[in-house]
Amino acid sequence: MMTRRWVWVLAIGFAQPAWSAGADRDLRGEALRCEYRVDPLGVDAVRPRLSWVVRSGRRGQKQTAYHLLVSGSRAKLDRDEGDLWDTGKVESDRTLHVVYAGKPLRSRMRCWWKVRVWGKDGEVSPWSRPAMWSMGLLDPGDWQAKWIAHPADVSASEAGPMPATMLRTSFAVAGPVKRATAYVTALGLYELRLNGRRVGDSALAPEFTVYDRRVQYQAHDVTEYIVAGDNAVGAVLADGWNGEYFFGMPMRQAQRPFLGRRGLLLRLDIEGEDGKTQTVVTAPSWRSTRRGPTRSASLYDGEVYDARRAMPGWDKPGFDDALWPAAVVAEAFARAKPVWQPNESIRAVGERKPVKVAEPKPGVFVFDLGQNMVGWCRLKVRGRAGTTVRLRHAEMLNDDGTVYRANLRGAEQTDTYTKGTGAEETYEPRFTYHGFRYVECTGTEYKPWRYMPAYKPRLGDLVGLVVHSASPQAGRFECSSDLVNRIMHMVVWTQRGNLHSVPTDCPQRDERAGWMGDIQSFAQTAIFHMDMAGFFSKWLRDVRDSQMPDGRYPNFAPMDFDRWRGGTPAWADAGTIVPWRMYQNYADTRLLAEHYDSARRWVDFVHARNPSLLWEKALGDKFNDWLNGDTLVQDGWPRKGGQVPPRVLATAFFAHSAEIVAKMAAVIDRAEDARRYGRLFEGIKAAFLKRYVQPDGRIEGNTQAGYALALRFNLLPEALRAKAAGHLLAELGRYGGHMSTGIQTSHRLMLELTRTGHNDEAYRLLTLQTFPSWGFMVKQGATTIWERWDGYVKGRGFQKPMMNSFNHWALGAVGEWVWRNVVGLSPDESRPGWKHFTVAPRPGGGLTWARGRYDSIRGTIVSDWRVEAGRFRLDVTVPANTTATVSLPARDAESVTVDDKPPVASGLVRPLGARDGRASFMVSSGRYRFVSLMDASPGRP
Ligand code: BGC
Repeated sequence: MMTRRWVWVLAIGFAQPAWSAGADRDLRGEALRCEYRVDPLGVDAVRPRLSWVVRSGRRGQKQTAYHLLVSGSRAKLDRDEGDLWDTGKVESDRTLHVVYAGKPLRSRMRCWWKVRVWGKDGEVSPWSRPAMWSMGLLDPGDWQAKWIAHPADVSASEAGPMPATMLRTSFAVAGPVKRATAYVTALGLYELRLNGRRVGDSALAPEFTVYDRRVQYQAHDVTEYIVAGDNAVGAVLADGWNGEYFFGMPMRQAQRPFLGRRGLLLRLDIEGEDGKTQTVVTAPSWRSTRRGPTRSASLYDGEVYDARRAMPGWDKPGFDDALWPAAVVAEAFARAKPVWQPNESIRAVGERKPVKVAEPKPGVFVFDLGQNMVGWCRLKVRGRAGTTVRLRHAEMLNDDGTVYRANLRGAEQTDTYTKGTGAEETYEPRFTYHGFRYVECTGTEYKPWRYMPAYKPRLGDLVGLVVHSASPQAGRFECSSDLVNRIMHMVVWTQRGNLHSVPTDCPQRDERAGWMGDIQSFAQTAIFHMDMAGFFSKWLRDVRDSQMPDGRYPNFAPMDFDRWRGGTPAWADAGTIVPWRMYQNYADTRLLAEHYDSARRWVDFVHARNPSLLWEKALGDKFNDWLNGDTLVQDGWPRKGGQVPPRVLATAFFAHSAEIVAKMAAVIDRAEDARRYGRLFEGIKAAFLKRYVQPDGRIEGNTQAGYALALRFNLLPEALRAKAAGHLLAELGRYGGHMSTGIQTSHRLMLELTRTGHNDEAYRLLTLQTFPSWGFMVKQGATTIWERWDGYVKGRGFQKPMMNSFNHWALGAVGEWVWRNVVGLSPDESRPGWKHFTVAPRPGGGLTWARGRYDSIRGTIVSDWRVEAGRFRLDVTVPANTTATVSLPARDAESVTVDDKPPVASGLVRPLGARDGRASFMVSSGRYRFVSLMDASPGRP
C-alpha cells in the first residue's frame, strides 16, 4: 500500500509540469475565475473581474502579455471571435481582477471567455480551456415576478418554529428546451423543486444577510429538469435565520421588520429550441399550504418531520392543489433588495460513518461519529407507518455514556421523524444544522394494540453529513509531530464547523452569530486553509449593512434585529482587519474601494470620542481579551495579571485600525487621507508610548497580552522591542511557562515570540501539554478547538455550561503561526495577492520535517523541509509570474546549495545575505531544492 506521504508527493508531482530550461510547452492560462468563482451563474457586477493562474514548465517564467476573448456564445468563442470583448494583446503581467471592459452586459446574458498569455521570451501559450459566467438580474424590475407568500406568512407576528410552507404552480412547455435558468430567492430558507426533483445541491439558501436591506438570489441552470409538455415548479420555505431569536432573546418585531415572515421570488426562463423564451414567475396564481410533512424547522432546535403528511407528487404536474389556499402577493418584501450570492453555497461536502453505537440506557442508543462535526444525519428507518424516531445531537458524553447537552443552552438540536409507510425510509433534515459528535437515537416502533418496543437502530443506519459554506480547500499541512498534526486537524475541523454563510463563533448553542472578534483573530488561518475570497466578499457586505449610522461597527454581523451598542475594541476592528486580509491575500482593490468609507467612519467614530488618542471612552462592551488567564481556575495559578487593561487593548486596536485605513487610502489613491490617517496612527502610537509604556519597556498592567499587542501592532520603538519581549518572557514564567492570554492575543503572542527571536519558546508553547495549552485540549480528547482550554478535564468534568463550546475557532488562530513559521509562508502586502511572498520556515520543537502546500490565488506554493544530519533541506515551489524571498537556517551563505550547485548557478536565485544563522535569497518562479549546513541540529527542545 502506498503511504500517505507518497500519495502527497505524487499529488504535487502530477500537479506540476516538469521544470526545464528549454521551450515552455507547458505555458498556460488556467484556473479561470470570474468574481473569484468558477463558471458562476447570475453575477450582478456590471463589470465583472476576471482572473487566471499562469502555469509554466519553465523556471523564472513571467507573463509579459495577455489576450482575453469574451463571446456571447460558445460557438463564437471556439471560432476565436470575441464579439463582446477582444482585448487584443495587452502588455501586462496582470492575472488578477482584470475588469471587464467590453460591450455593456445586460441581465441574463451568457458570456464565454478564454485567455492566452505570453512568456518572458515572447513565447505564446495556446488558448486556455473555455470558461463562462452568466449575468443575473441587474435591476429589480428584471424579475417581472412578485414576492408571494402563504397568507399566514405575510404578517407573522412572532418567531418560533412553524410548519414549513409549500408553494407550487404548473405550466406547459410547447416544445424541446434549449436552456432553462431559474433565478430564485426567499425570505426564510427555500428548497426549489422541479418536476419532482430538488434543484441543485445548495443548502440553507438564500443564506444569512441583513434581510431588510439585501437578500441573496441564486441562479440555477435547470435545463435538464424541464420537459416538453406539462411541468410543475414548487418550493418549500422554512424559517432559518429570519425566524430565529438569537441567544434565545425575544426581539420586538419593530427591530426586525421581517422576523418570521416567509416568501418566495422566482423567475424561470425557458428558451425553446425554436428560439422563443417562455417565462414563469411567482404570482398570485400559485397555491400554498402549511399542511405538509415538515411540521417545524429551526436552525437551533432542529426539524420535526411527519412523513404521514407527505403529499406525493405535489411538485409534479397533475397534482390536485384545489384545496390549497392561493398565494398572496407580499409587496412589503420588496424592500429586501435581491443581490447575487458571491460566496460558495452551503453544501454537504462530505460524509462520516459512525465508529460505534452504544446503548447506555435501555432503549437509548448513542452513535459516535468519531469527530466533532457540523451538519446533520441521514438515517434509515424501519418499522410500520407511525414509528417515530428522535435524534438528539451533542458534542460530548456524560460519564454514564449518555449525551451531554447542557452547553447547548436554548438550542435543542433535535430532529424527529415519523414514518409514513411500512417500507424502509430514509430521512435527512433540510432546514437546520447541528454541531455534534454524538447522536442519541430513541423512538418507538408503532404497533397498534400491542406493547410498543423501543426503536433499535443499527450502526449502518446513520451517516453524518458534513455541511458548510463550500469555500474550496487551499492549504494542506503535515509535519513529523503527531501532536502538531492533531492540533492542525482540530483547527481545520473547527473552520469547517463555523462557516455557515457567516463566520460563526460556534455551531451548536443558541448563538452561531457572526462574532467579529473571533474571525478577526482567525481570518489569516482561515485563508491558509480555504479560499475565503467569496465568503469574505459576502460577509464584509453584511458588516457594512450592520454598521450603525454613527460609524460604529457591531459586535457581530449580520446584526439586523437591534442596532445594539457594538463598537467593541477588537470586535468592531474586524471591519478594518478582515478587508485588509482580503487585500494582502487576494489583492482585492475593488473591495477596498467599496469598503474604505465604512472603515474610515469606524476609525473616525473612535477618534471623535477620544481626542486624546487614547481609546478610553466609548469602549463598547466589556469583552476585552475574552477568556484570558484571569478566567481560569487552577491551584497555583495567579488570580490576577492575565487581563490586559481595557484601554491598553483598545488603544492598540485603535492604532492598528488607523494604520490600516491609512494603507487602504494609499492603495485606492486617496493620498490626502493616507497622510491624514498615517499621522493619526503615529499620534496614537506616541500617545500609547507616553501613557502606557515605561522607559524600561514595561507596559501598563504588565500582561502577556499587552506585550503581544504592542509588539504585533508595531507600537514600540525598536529599542524597546527586546525589552518588552523580555517582560513577556518573565510573565510567561510567572504562569509556570504558560499563556495567560485570551482569544485576541494568544496567536499574537506566538507570532511575536518568534519575531523577537524566541522561536523556541513559541514551539515550547505549541507542544506543551499541561494546562492551559493546545496539547492539553488534545489530551482531554478534543477533535476540534474548544472555546475554553478546560472545557472538559478528565477527572474533573465540564466547565460551566453557559459558555462551553467544543467548536470555537478563536484559539485555533495559532494555525497562522504554524503556517507562517513551521511552513514559513507569508504574503507580502507591498506586492499583494502572493505576487511576492516569503518562504521562511523556522524549525524547532523537535520537528524533523514539515510540509505545507498552499493554493494561492496565483498558483500553488510549496514549502517542504527536512532536517537530517546537520543539514537543512528545503524544497520550494514558486508559481510562475511570482517571486519569493526564501530564507532558511544556515551556518553561512556559502554553505547553501541550490539543486546541488552554488545558488547563483541557475541565474534565478540571488543571494540576499546571511544573518543570525539564516541565509536569504530572492527567487524567481519554479521548483528548487535548497540544502544548507546548520550550526547544530536544531529542533531539540
Ligand atoms: C461568543 C464569543 C464572542 C463573545 C463576545 C460569546 O458568546 O461565543 O466567541 O466573541 O461572546 O465576548
